Amino acid sequence: MMWPYPKILAHRGGGIIAPENTLAAMRCGHACGFAAVEFDVMLSKDGVPVLMHDEYFGRTIRAAGSVAETLAIDLCRMDAGTWFSATFTGEPVPLYADVVRFCRQHGIWMNVEIKPSKGAEVATGNIVAELTKALFSDIAVTDILHLPLFSSFSFTALMAAKHAAPGIPRGLLMDCIGHDWKSQLQELDARSLHANHQYLNPVLIRQVKDAGYGMLCYTVNTPERASEVLAWGGDALCTDRLDLISADF
Ligand code: G3P
Ligand code: MG
Repeated sequence: MMWPYPKILAHRGGGIIAPENTLAAMRCGHACGFAAVEFDVMLSKDGVPVLMHDEYFGRTIRAAGSVAETLAIDLCRMDAGTWFSATFTGEPVPLYADVVRFCRQHGIWMNVEIKPSKGAEVATGNIVAELTKALFSDIAVTDILHLPLFSSFSFTALMAAKHAAPGIPRGLLMDCIGHDWKSQLQELDARSLHANHQYLNPVLIRQVKDAGYGMLCYTVNTPERASEVLAWGGDALCTDRLDLISADF
């Protein structure tokens, strides 16, 4: 069984109900009954994994600059909540280690998307994997349900993660599924393929499943489409619409 994990994942922590990739998002997702979460992890200037989607500030952080040129101590003082709503003003950029602690405390399963800044693919894969290995050192590698699943659009980052922490499973992210998906999954010794639902069809999903891989579809935001991709054989999906697609969908 390549996908023993939950079927519905809250995207970026809390989807549309809270500012993405924050501890508030994890709390809101959990309060909505979600037992599985996807979030994005990037390195600060001093090589500390933090939760962040965009390399450059501007959308969720009201500042100029980038994650890769900012120290973790400064990132932790930045407001990642106000862009979403005044209710979340002061909600900081969280450290990856703190988010893992929160999720483990509450029994939330994690799909950790490794999101390297440009040029930092190897370092990000390596450091996130090393830290994850340490944070889960009490869990046996056979206890797959209590370990997170890495994913990344960066094959290079996932290869680095594989070398640093071979016991933490991997999934390859692709927008449109490329012709070489099978050889890439083989080289990564991956469990799953994570693909943009917009480019999926029943034949593609069947090919992935028949090859023995799990199939996660991102980011599905209507119940109709969720039913469709699951009927096609998709194992799981992540969604922003925690209000429309429930955890037990
Ligand atoms: O992991 C699924 C999804 O999060 C990938 O796209 O850009 O939302 O990180 P993105
Ligand atoms: Mg993501």
